[in-house]
Amino acid sequence: MVNQWDPAIQNREVRELICEIGRRLYNRGFAAANDGNISVRVTDDIVLCTPTLICKGFMKPDDICAVDMDGNQIAGKRKRTSEILLHLTIMKNRPDVKAVVHCHPPHVTAFSVAGEPIPQCVLPEVEIFMGQIPMAPYATPGSKEFAETVLPFLKKGVNTIILKNHGTVSFDKGLEEAYWKTEILDAYCRILMLAHQLGKVDYFNENQIRELLDLKKRLGLDDPRFEALNAENCDLCSNSLFREGYKEEPPPEPRAFPKPPAMSCKLLNQSGSTAQSSAGSADGLDLDTLVKAITDQVMQALQNPS
Ligand code: 13P
Repeated sequence: MVNQWDPAIQNREVRELICEIGRRLYNRGFAAANDGNISVRVTDDIVLCTPTLICKGFMKPDDICAVDMDGNQIAGKRKRTSEILLHLTIMKNRPDVKAVVHCHPPHVTAFSVAGEPIPQCVLPEVEIFMGQIPMAPYATPGSKEFAETVLPFLKKGVNTIILKNHGTVSFDKGLEEAYWKTEILDAYCRILMLAHQLGKVDYFNENQIRELLDLKKRLGLDDPRFEALNAENCDLCSNSLFREGYKEEPPPEPRAFPKPPAMSCKLLNQSGSTAQSSAGSADGLDLDTLVKAITDQVMQALQNPS
């Protein structure tokens, strides 16, 4: 039975770090007024978290609350965040996660409001440090139903989920790392919007994305696409691994951005090529395109013998 003087609850360093990350969220405009919440798992059954209705830019270590893994408050003079169940659902289903940051970064939230999936295969850092970024369906904030919207998307290697018409939730083994994911994603969404204004976004081809995933593996980072690499349908760039999360409504479909290029894994796997040599690229053409172009030419020649 824990008491409020438990050293894990009184951990000054963690409390100060939560305040510091709160300041960063507020100062970067990721959490207006009292928006957002932060939590850190300090033992198997104790989580420190921000109180409800507090500006994240001006918190003091004494404002921080403690809860058990069911969300019952065990310490703190202020009431714990109303969204603690979201944080605990993530921690319970992903034991590697020790910290969660929820906020409303404007550029990512614009994608969430527009229902536009985040295009993938555009920037190396995003593929390496973020990977696939699913969008969970909308539910009223604070409810158990809301917390459970993220469940289908908690595959290993996923570290950020966009909450439809709401904001983001990022998570990692440490609080600063979880915060960075939010920062990387908001910067990325801003770049995407600027590129969109310029009129076009160029995607990586299959060879380029395979090389990045290979590098990610060598760095010891996880990605749900590792499993898909040798699968029959290895849609590496279209967030399609998460479609089962949408049961009552269709998954978000790209409207503002073009669909990423189709991948040709089945063909490559059948030929027994390795990821490196199965570049899928010849003089800049991906293998699918090449095969289709040759087939079209043969068909044309057969139909119009001269
Ligand atoms: P709390 O003040 O209860 O943490 O809620 C803030 C918030 O961001 C709601 O989405």
